[in-house]
Amino acid sequence: MTVTTSGQRRTPKVAKTNSVVKKVVMAVSGIIMILYLIAHMIGNLHAFQGAQAYNDYATWLRTFGEPALPKRTILTVIEVVLTVSVLAHMWAAFSLWYQAKRARPVGYVTKKAMAQSYASRTMRWGGVIILAFIVYHLLDMTTGTVNLAADKSEPFDRLVASFTNPWVTAFYVIALVLLGMHLRHGIWSATQTLGQSNRRRERTVNAAATSLSVLLIAGFLVVPLAIAIGALR
Ligand code: HEM
Repeated sequence: MTVTTSGQRRTPKVAKTNSVVKKVVMAVSGIIMILYLIAHMIGNLHAFQGAQAYNDYATWLRTFGEPALPKRTILTVIEVVLTVSVLAHMWAAFSLWYQAKRARPVGYVTKKAMAQSYASRTMRWGGVIILAFIVYHLLDMTTGTVNLAADKSEPFDRLVASFTNPWVTAFYVIALVLLGMHLRHGIWSATQTLGQSNRRRERTVNAAATSLSVLLIAGFLVVPLAIAIGALR
């Protein structure tokens, strides 16, 4: 931060460039994660084709690319890209927050600025809860460590074991709704950063961000809810 002759505070050019780079990192890593989520949500819908189809799909996830590539190659690449994206997203978020905090130790005064501050606070806490959800989710569905099904359970058994428990279902529902809110705001911010939005287009961008988030979360929610009400076993 520099102070000009008129007494106005101005952010130095290097700091501006720096924060634009971080915002681009957030947007690009966010888009990668959204693409994964779209594929994951569609994949989950195989549950409606029955246990065998779902388990076959889970096996295919680990074997696709074979025999040209060794087992799990493509899945491992996806896991590495996702891990890098999550870490980059967190690093950029933390670093932008820290930069803003240092530049503005006193806090906001205007109504608009307070609303922006509220949105970014919600994004930060939402992000922390979503991260906690991902850790729990991996222990639940991937390793089975916290799953209530037997040790050698198949992926479909794990779904049923989790979503016949109302507490686990409630946790998934809350995390998914938070994820939807996070995505809605995130998609909107990404379009601002990547220059796809202007005042005239803002309404369309907002509507598209909301529709995509609602569709994605609804697609995720149907599986746990169908199992919870006994419509899918
Ligand atoms: C109701 C919602 C969801 C269900 C039913 C579900 C189900 C599953 C299942 C069964 C697996 C294990 C697949 C296997 O190894 O055979 C899995 C893995 C995974 N899920 Fe989900 N998932 C849901 C939502 C989410 C969400 C919202 C996220 C991210 C925010 C997510 C991220 C992941 C990741 C990162 C993996 C590990 C992929 C891998 O490396 O194998 N899932 N999910």
